[in-house]
Amino acid sequence: MSAAAPGPGPAPGSAPHLQAPPSPADPRVPAQRSASSQAAAPEATALQAPSPPLSQSTFQDASPDAVLIRRTMAEVAPVADKVTSYFYALLFVRHPDLRSLFPAAMDAQRDRLLKALLTAAEHIDNTEVLVAYLQNLGRGHRKYGTRAEHYPAVGECLIGALSKYASGIWTAETEAAWVRAYTTISQVMIDAAAADELRAPAWWYAEVVSHDLRTRDVAVVTVRPDQPYPFLAGQYTSLETPWWPRVWRHYSFASAPRSDGLLSFHVKAVPTGWLSNSLVHRARPGDILRLGPPAGSMTVDHTTDSGLLCLGGGTGIAPIKALVEDVAEHGERRRVEVFYGARTDLDLYDIDTMLRLQQSHPWLSVRAVIDQQAHVQLPDAIRDYGPWNEFDAYLSGPPGMIRSGVHTLRDVGIPSERIRHDSVEELVSAG
Ligand SMILES: Cc1cc2nc3c(=O)[nH]c(=O)nc-3n(C[C@H](O)[C@H](O)[C@H](O)COP(=O)(O)OP(=O)(O)OC[C@H]3O[C@@H](n4cnc5c(N)ncnc54)[C@H](O)[C@@H]3O)c2cc1C
Ligand code: HEM
Repeated sequence: MSAAAPGPGPAPGSAPHLQAPPSPADPRVPAQRSASSQAAAPEATALQAPSPPLSQSTFQDASPDAVLIRRTMAEVAPVADKVTSYFYALLFVRHPDLRSLFPAAMDAQRDRLLKALLTAAEHIDNTEVLVAYLQNLGRGHRKYGTRAEHYPAVGECLIGALSKYASGIWTAETEAAWVRAYTTISQVMIDAAAADELRAPAWWYAEVVSHDLRTRDVAVVTVRPDQPYPFLAGQYTSLETPWWPRVWRHYSFASAPRSDGLLSFHVKAVPTGWLSNSLVHRARPGDILRLGPPAGSMTVDHTTDSGLLCLGGGTGIAPIKALVEDVAEHGERRRVEVFYGARTDLDLYDIDTMLRLQQSHPWLSVRAVIDQQAHVQLPDAIRDYGPWNEFDAYLSGPPGMIRSGVHTLRDVGIPSERIRHDSVEELVSAG
């Protein structure tokens, strides 16, 4: 259905500072510096997943440490669950004081820490993407209460778990390679956290000021942070509710930064979902939430005047609306073409807002794509329009939509570096 007629790459980080390798005879993880003396205040960077699977040629070009690390990864891959359980068991038995930093119930997302560590170690040669990712992660860890002195404990338990489950191939060289990789990874995180301490709180308190139930399972929640919250349109935050302490989930900002400082989120309650259900069905004005720092690289590149092709599925329309507002505020007359997808017309809970924006801005076109009526999935709907090869593309929605969307966008001639979306790995791990 057509509701109406018409209308850039992640910031790289700096190279990591490699510490002198520890002696293989003493393979413990060395204590980390608490801060880099010259840690630059990094940009709000992408929560990019460190790059796609490695090809054989990448493997051949890999450093000796990366080869050893990948060998370990291949060995532990079939027993990843066991490695995770053992890692946390070691961590909490050896360092019981660290247990209180983690949620009471270690849910299905508990493997994220280990997965990130392993992915980062695996991509240790791909410094540019890795550093931006790790800086973001290090800043984000401030909200958990993570401190520099906690890192060696995590490293020691990681190596303890890996050496147990990769015992068949584990050697002193393997251990030394992991120690070096972990030292590098954790130092980037520690330095980014230290730099961030100088300019931002570890978290923000935010009071719910309005709660608008738009459908049976989607609410627009608006909050007032206790101090200014700087972010860019298209980014997201992490959020904790009083009902699930230390359980954090990501939510995209549904508006560009506003002069009154309020922040809005579109939340869909997913079956048995902890945070989403409490935000949709329980949160009321006066409740106090906590917010982590902003993250994400799905932001408008204001150095070009290319058109924007935006695909928003379900609550994925929230950051797309923020991008439209951002273009409007910059006073540029770039074409912005929004495709808003939903399963049924009832699920198009924000179509009125989008159509109002279209009425005010002649450069904006909004089209609704309803799966059940059009028998066409959101990404494919763009094939009837275009040409798109001069556009920057933005995708937001469920992981499946992002995957097929990237494929379709490449197919219609948009190069990968002009396609922006939040990390699919993150979305998948988030459900
Ligand atoms: C970058 C980013 C931005 C996001 N922005 C938004 C946003 O603006 N609005 C929003 O509502 N959500 C958003 N999410 C998803 C959000 O972070 C949570 O994952 C979601 O709210 C579910 O959390 P939960 O605690 O309720 O569910 P959990 O307790 O984590 O999950 C409980 C169960 O629900 C399943 N589940 C989780 N998500 C879904 C789903 N989408 N559909 C069906 N089943 C699911 C899980 O597999 C699990 O079995 C975003 C995620 C990312 C990574
Ligand atoms: C190189 C080291 C580390 C890496 C790569 C890493 C990675 C991650 C990742 C990816 C997550 C998932 C949520 C998020 O993205 O923020 C996470 C969560 C977490 N990490 Fe880390 N981490 C590291 C070190 C530490 C240390 C030293 C601590 C402190 C003890 C810590 C404590 C936590 C806590 C409390 C959570 C939340 C857990 C949850 O939500 O279940 N991490 N970590």
